[in-house]
Amino acid sequence: MMAFNTSWLEAVRPGRRVGHTIEAHVSIGSTNDRARELLLDGDADGVAVVADEQTSGRGRRGRVWHSPRGRSLAVSVVVRPMLAAADAPMLSLAAALAVAEACAPVAPVRLKWPNDVVAADGRKVGGILIETIIDGDRLAGAVIGIGINVDWRRSDMPNDIRDLAVALGELAGAPVDRIVLLGRVLDALSDEIDRLERGELPLDRYRELCATLGQVVSTDGDGGATRGLAVGLGSHGELLIQADDGIHELAGGDLAVIGRA
Ligand code: BTN
Repeated sequence: MMAFNTSWLEAVRPGRRVGHTIEAHVSIGSTNDRARELLLDGDADGVAVVADEQTSGRGRRGRVWHSPRGRSLAVSVVVRPMLAAADAPMLSLAAALAVAEACAPVAPVRLKWPNDVVAADGRKVGGILIETIIDGDRLAGAVIGIGINVDWRRSDMPNDIRDLAVALGELAGAPVDRIVLLGRVLDALSDEIDRLERGELPLDRYRELCATLGQVVSTDGDGGATRGLAVGLGSHGELLIQADDGIHELAGGDLAVIGRA
């Protein structure tokens, strides 16, 4: 039987594009899986699914995402934005910007392309898993899944992420209220999706927050292995990498940051 935690409902955003309705679970497999059910089984739009803990949280590229009880913010929103299928990468960059904007009052964070939220030293504060449904040339719907490490000491983290992740509370040096943070994430996502639907691209604001540009990176990306300098973003949000044999355009894949040129 589903158990609900009504404390999260303080973060409801009446009348807003995202977060006017919150489904708040104590424990769930994956908020993305539940949000996907809502996307496929009805006409939900702007509904947020949040959980105190996920038992099968999913990360990008089939990885596990850890979200133990009370340590993180795990939320997935169902959206049906009026966007073309070709704009799906923009939704990903806009969601990353929204999460960074929501975290910024607590601690300075930056973005690792395409949508990791990172501390100044590169450790990962949060990640985003977007799953889309495309109908012809239209983006019929999307689940935007957001995981933020909030109150999690390094010593309590699993070995596989201990040196790679950091919690927002540790960066802030003070406890972070997850319900307030959720409210800010929902506000920022609403603003970003409103902007996208008005045709305003997030590229300039994304560039300003992007810690990847100017770094030497290597990738096993969808188009093969590449190593070079991240020099810019293309008009669809792809990462432009200056390699020995010319400019490569990376649309997706995993990226390792080697360091400054
Ligand atoms: C990544 O960086 O690999 C993406 C991580 C996304 C994790 C969030 S937590 C809420 C939502 N539910 C999931 O199962 N995954 C996303």
